[in-house]
Amino acid sequence: MKKILIGSDHAGFDAKKKIAEHLRSLGHEVTDCGTYSTVSCDYPIIAHRTCARYAEGGYDFAILICGTGIGVSIAANKHAGIRAALCNDIFSTEMARQHNDANVLCLGSRVLDISLMNDIADTFIATPALEEERHVRRQAEMKALDDGNFDELFGTGAVPGK
Ligand code: RB5
Repeated sequence: MKKILIGSDHAGFDAKKKIAEHLRSLGHEVTDCGTYSTVSCDYPIIAHRTCARYAEGGYDFAILICGTGIGVSIAANKHAGIRAALCNDIFSTEMARQHNDANVLCLGSRVLDISLMNDIADTFIATPALEEERHVRRQAEMKALDDGNFDELFGTGAVPGK
């Protein structure tokens, strides 16, 4: 059982309801961060509400849905500590967890049908991050980007071939 936040704009509202129902039927605890109707609503507001709640702690993952998934992913990734991945297929979803330790799944309700979105959500939740040294190092580099001390900690980085 995982604790999951879910949010969407108006374009993702129907998908949000269905994905939340699906995840609850599997025993997950799902908290709805809005929006609560199909009235037009700006995706940065929902992404911000959801990411701010996630940052308070106590949740395993968040799921954000808009028409394409692009708007919520751009907005979510402006928050420190958020690694949001827009996933349109199962392989990318597995990689987002294994290689990127993504903590926010972004979905496009006008791109994917509900069955694939549910499968992607299940895969995201079930796939662990790999703890291999190179992935852990890259996560530390990502954190340094958040913290504004990348150059201090990693210099210009070692780029093979240069
Ligand atoms: C809303 O019409 C749409 O622009 C929004 O849901 C999203 O797709 C933006 O990236």
